Amino acid sequence: MGLHIVILAAGKGTRMHSNLPKVLQPLGGIPLLEHVVNAAKELNPKKIHVVYGDSGELVKEKLAHLKVNWIEQKKQLGTGHAVLQVLPYIPDNSQVLILYGDVPLISALLLEELITDAPSKGIGLITAELTDPSGFGRIVRDPFGNLTEIVEHKDATKTELQIKEINTGILIASAKLLKKYLPKLNQHNAQGEYYLTDIISMSTSDNIQVTGLVAFNPEEILGVNDKIQLAHLERYYQNKIAQNFMRQGVTIIDPTRFDVRGNLQIAADVSIDINNIFEGNVSVGSNTTIGPNNYLKNVTIGNNVIIRANCVLEDCIIEDDCIVGPFARIRPTSHLKAGAHVGNFVELKNCILGKKSKANHLTYLGDVIIGNDVNIGAGTITCNYDGANKHRTIIEDGVFVGSDVQFIAPVKIGKNATIGAGSTIVSDVPKGKLAIARAKQVHIDSWQRPKKKSSK
Ligand code: UD1
Ligand code: CA
Repeated sequence: MGLHIVILAAGKGTRMHSNLPKVLQPLGGIPLLEHVVNAAKELNPKKIHVVYGDSGELVKEKLAHLKVNWIEQKKQLGTGHAVLQVLPYIPDNSQVLILYGDVPLISALLLEELITDAPSKGIGLITAELTDPSGFGRIVRDPFGNLTEIVEHKDATKTELQIKEINTGILIASAKLLKKYLPKLNQHNAQGEYYLTDIISMSTSDNIQVTGLVAFNPEEILGVNDKIQLAHLERYYQNKIAQNFMRQGVTIIDPTRFDVRGNLQIAADVSIDINNIFEGNVSVGSNTTIGPNNYLKNVTIGNNVIIRANCVLEDCIIEDDCIVGPFARIRPTSHLKAGAHVGNFVELKNCILGKKSKANHLTYLGDVIIGNDVNIGAGTITCNYDGANKHRTIIEDGVFVGSDVQFIAPVKIGKNATIGAGSTIVSDVPKGKLAIARAKQVHIDSWQRPKKKSSK
């Protein structure tokens, strides 16, 4: 007996007012549907089926990396009709768990509880008690507390509308049960749809047991229909991530100003100031301090690093004991070796900066390999682009570069060479030599400053 998971995702998502299909809208940088698939995968199902409809081709294309069985529902005739499309792909002896592509924060833990709790031959539902249940299907129970049916908001009587226990839509049932009742659904209701929820009353009138498991965190079962609900769940999600890190010994100065859009790993004793965004795959080693207002995308940061305020770091490696910023920009394929310093208004691109080397002020270093213990003076520029091609600069260990130097690449500076300030270096410098390439200073004895002409 295997578990099959069906994720319904064929709805239009009209209230998003967006060209991007609802289930592709990002939450924590990950599409809504991918969150659901990730939770589903944790249950080790035999198969995950996704029912898609409107703009489904785009959904399939963007989420092609997910190992799911895509099933098209050509017309959105209701949740019951959607599940019916999948039944031919599910063997009779399976259990079927129904999830929703727009209920992103459902947890594997709650689903495991549902699977354990549900009657083996009946239906197990997840319900919730909401102070404002409007819009949701209501859970109707008999005087003994037994679940008898679900009434949709639009079909409910005044008394039923008072019920605060709602249907989350998430349920588990045997494939046999679904195959028996789903083909019998009709559209005789306020919305003219095939309601999945009608299988509850069909089952209970045949004395099949239906149980409800009440979810305690409403955020886990809430659907996203508009941008306001999306923002609400985004904050809930970010706060949960922040709390997990804080429990592991990470200092987060303000969890409401902490954003992870992808995969973040942080060691203990890391301190993170406000307004940092971590995107893609980011890892941060122990004892590292991250100042305010940084954007870090696909970055590996070592131990004892200091990232000062207002830096943008992308696709790069920052080894132990480095200091970066404030106002540094480190672009893709750059690598700061241990103890390197990069200061304010410094841009690095495809740059290897060796151990303990420093570029502290107003500098562009692109397509360059820099050795250890190199000092790059303020205002240094690697002129790596000739208008057609990019060229490489090599600066070996121990080189001292004075301020305002241009390296016209390709060029190579030998070990321990010194480059005089203000030089434009066009050819290789041998090791240990001083290179100066600037006009000689002259003093004009007869020089007189121009005087203002009188206006008369
Ligand atoms: C449904 C439930 C309701 C519950 C609520 C929880 C039914 C009849 N009602 O109502 O009891 O309280 O969810 O949010 O099931 N979908 C398809 N194909 C369709 C129709 C819907 O894939 O033909 C998908 C939608 O993309 C959506 C989900 O099913 O993700 C729910 O559909 P929706 O029409 O929003 O159901 P509700 O009216 O909210
Ligand atoms: Ca809905």
